[in-house]
Amino acid sequence: MAGSDDATIQDLGHESRKFPPSAEFVATTLVADSSLHDEGRRDYEGFWARHAGELLSWSKPWHTICEWKLPFVKWFIGGELNVSYNCLDRHVLAGHGHKVAFYWEGEPGDTRVVTYQELLDETQKFANALRSLGVQKGDRINIYLPMIPEAAVAMLACARIGAAHSVVFGGFSAQALADRINDASAKVLITADGGWRRGEIFPLKPQADAAVEYTPTIEHVVVVRRGGNEVAMQAGRDHWYHELLAQAAPTCPAEPMDAEQLLFLLYTSGTTGKPKGIMHTTGGYLTHVATTFKYAFDHQPDRDVFWCTADVGWVTGHSYIVYGPLANGATQVMYEGVPNYPANDRVWSLIDKYKVTIFYTAPTAIRTYMKWGAQEPAKHDLSSLRLLGSVGEPINPEAWIWYQETIGHGRCPIIDTWWQTETGGMMISPLPGVTITKPGSATHPLPGIAAEVVDEAGNTITRGGGYLTLTQPWPGMLRGIWGDPERYRETYWSRFPGRYFAGDGAKLDEDGYLWLLGRVDDVMNVSGHRISTTEVESALVSHPSVAEAAVVGANDATTGQAIIAYVTLRGGLSVDEKVLRDHVAKEIGAIAKPKTIYFTPDLPKTRSGKIMRRLLRDVAEGRNLGDTTTLADASVVTELQRRATDSPSED
Ligand code: WTA
Repeated sequence: MAGSDDATIQDLGHESRKFPPSAEFVATTLVADSSLHDEGRRDYEGFWARHAGELLSWSKPWHTICEWKLPFVKWFIGGELNVSYNCLDRHVLAGHGHKVAFYWEGEPGDTRVVTYQELLDETQKFANALRSLGVQKGDRINIYLPMIPEAAVAMLACARIGAAHSVVFGGFSAQALADRINDASAKVLITADGGWRRGEIFPLKPQADAAVEYTPTIEHVVVVRRGGNEVAMQAGRDHWYHELLAQAAPTCPAEPMDAEQLLFLLYTSGTTGKPKGIMHTTGGYLTHVATTFKYAFDHQPDRDVFWCTADVGWVTGHSYIVYGPLANGATQVMYEGVPNYPANDRVWSLIDKYKVTIFYTAPTAIRTYMKWGAQEPAKHDLSSLRLLGSVGEPINPEAWIWYQETIGHGRCPIIDTWWQTETGGMMISPLPGVTITKPGSATHPLPGIAAEVVDEAGNTITRGGGYLTLTQPWPGMLRGIWGDPERYRETYWSRFPGRYFAGDGAKLDEDGYLWLLGRVDDVMNVSGHRISTTEVESALVSHPSVAEAAVVGANDATTGQAIIAYVTLRGGLSVDEKVLRDHVAKEIGAIAKPKTIYFTPDLPKTRSGKIMRRLLRDVAEGRNLGDTTTLADASVVTELQRRATDSPSED
C-alpha cells in the first residue's frame, strides 16, 4: 500500500502473509502468552531487575535499578558480579561441568569438544597468565583471533580480572587494528599465528606485527598456535599462549566487579569519521543479553544446541556466542571457516552433524544459500531445527520465505531480530511462541523495550514510514563512545530530543508491525518521494531469477536522485533488464522503478556482510572511491566501475 505523498519515507511494500507459531512449537515453548510483554510495559525497570536477579548471580545486590540522566544511564547501581563467574563457575558448581559449551569445528574438519569445566579451567589459567604480564583491572586488551575457542577464553579471562577487551575482527588490516589499539591505549594484544579460511591459512601474526610497530601502548603480544604457519616471535614481547598456560596457576577466583565496570569496547565504523569505540558495561549488558537469549531463542538448556554463524569480532558474536549463551549454560556449535568449504553444503552438514536446534544467521548469508540452491540443504537431515533467527540487515520477504520453507520446512518460527552494536542486545524481535510473524517484519519491541517511529519533525507516527527511535533506557545500552562523550550525545541523542535515534528508517503497518527500512542514509529521494532502498531491493529479489540486489540513489538532473540497481542472478538464470524494471513497477509502483540495472556476479560487502551502498553510490555517480578498507573483496567494485563506463540504457 503506497503512503501519502508527504510521508517521511514512502511505504511501498505490501506483504500480507502471516505465520502464527505452530501448535507443536507452542506446546513446549517457554512463553506462550503476553505476560512478559505486559510486565515490561507496566514497569520496565522492574522487568529487567527481576531478570537480573533470576538469571544472574550477584555477589552484592544493587540499591538502585536505573539512574537515567539523559543521555547517560546506569543500571543496577551498587551491585557487584563477575561476568565470567556467571558464564562458567556457577554452571560447574551446579553440576554441569561435563556439559558441552562448544562443539568446535575447524575449517579443515578438525574438531574439539569443550565442556564448561574445561572452559573454566582454561579461563582461570589464562586470567593468571594475563596478570603475570602485568594486566590489571581497568586495562584494555586487544583480541585479534580466528573463530577458535581461545577467543571466548580470552574474552572471559579479561572479564574475570576486570580488564576490558576490544575484539577486532580477524579480517581487518594491520592499519585498522593499529587505529583501534591506539584509540583504546591497549596494553596487550592477543592474536594467533593464523587461521583457516577458504582452504588456506590467513596469517594474523604478521598483521599484528605490522600493527604493533605503531602502537606504543602494547607491552605484550600473546600468540595462539592455530594455523601452524611460520611466525617471528620477538623475545620479551611475544609469548606463545600454550607456554603461558603451562606456567600459569590453575585457579583464579572471579573478582567481583561493579555493575558499571567497563566490560568491553567494540569499534563500529560510522559512514563518516573514525571508528567509534562503543562502551558496554557489566551488569546491565549481561542482564540484557542473558534475558533476550533465553526468551527470543526460547532457549531450553536440556534440549537445545545453538549455532550463531557470526564472528566473535562483531557484536553478534559477543552477545550471542559468548555472553548470552554462556550465561544461560547453552551448548553451541562454533565454526572457524567459510560456509562453502569444502563445498556449498558445509553449513547444512554441520546442522545435521551436531543436531542444531536453533540457528542464527544473517540475511546476506541466507540469500547466498538461496543462490547456491535448495539441493544443498536437501542433502542433509535438518529435522533437528526448531527455531531460526536472522540479524544484521532487513530480511526481504523472499529470503524469509525461503528460510522458512527450505531450511525450516515450515516447522520453525523465524525471529527477525533488530539491534545494533550500540544496543548491546536484541531490541525488536518476535517472541517465537507468541508473535504471529510476517515475512520481512521484525514485528515488535521485545519485553522491557520501547520504540517509536517519528516523522522529520520528531512527531510520533502510528502508520507509515519514518525514523526508528527508542524512548526509554534499556540495560544493554551503550554507555558512551570511548574518550568522546560529546560525539556520543551528538551521534545518538541530538536528532530527536529525548530519544535515542538509531539511524534506521522504519515503518508501521496497519497492524502496528515494525518493518525496518535500512539506514536512513540509504533512503533515496526520487522526484520528492523518499523511497527506502530496502523496499526496492525486496521487490527485485522477489523476482524468481534474482538472488540479491543492492539499490542506491544517484544524482539525477531531472528527478533529484535516480534509482540504480545492482543485481546478482540465481545460478544459471538470466533475465532482461526491462522485465525486472517492470516487475518492480508491478510490485511496488512505477515511482520505484530503477532507472538502470547493472548485472553483477557479486556485490561489494563489508566483512560482516552488509552491502556497501556508499561505494555503489560512488560508482553510480562516477566518483573516486573513498575509504574501502572495510570492503571484503575490493575486486568487485573495480569490475562494477569498469561496467559503469559502458553507458547503460533506459527505456
Ligand atoms: C542493521 C548488528 C533490519 C540496522 C546486530 C542496524 C537490521 C545495523 C537488523 C546495526 C534487522 C541489524 N533488520 N536491519 N533485523 N539487524 N540491522 O552494529 O541498520 O553491526 O542499525 O549490529 O544493522 O549493525 P551492527
